[in-house]
Amino acid sequence: MKFSIIQNKIINIITKSETSNDKLQEICNLLKEEVDYYDWVGFYFKNGNKDELKLAQFAGKPTEHIIIPFGKGICGQVAVSNENFIVQDVTEQDNYISCGFDIKSEIVIPIFKNGENIGQIDIDSHKKSPFTKEDEKLLEFICEQVAKFI
Ligand code: SME
Repeated sequence: MKFSIIQNKIINIITKSETSNDKLQEICNLLKEEVDYYDWVGFYFKNGNKDELKLAQFAGKPTEHIIIPFGKGICGQVAVSNENFIVQDVTEQDNYISCGFDIKSEIVIPIFKNGENIGQIDIDSHKKSPFTKEDEKLLEFICEQVAKFI
């Protein structure tokens, strides 16, 4: 499905689903369904006032990485760098937390609310080098929308 259509569906979900949890869950489900190389889609948020991330809604295989300390793995690095992190080949990363050997690549985009990095969307893929600028743009759009209701 075209990313512009996915964007419209995201807006629809946000308008129609009642709770924030429902909205986040439906966004995960939609992305995993509609983009064939999105094999795991989840949201992590800062865990209270601790320097760690906590897994919120996700679609895909359950992971044991519910809590991720800031600085650890791709997710923990984005929590401190405040920058998008695209890993086209996870075997090239030393600071990486594996969620299974079927995962070949990962993209993490931070969510900013009032200028503060409050969480992120994390996507794992079974394909090597699948991500383009278009993925980055779509996911930045989603993070901006999430920041409005979270
Ligand atoms: N691979 C991530 C851990 C989270 S999972 O992808 C669900 C990382 O290195 O931070």
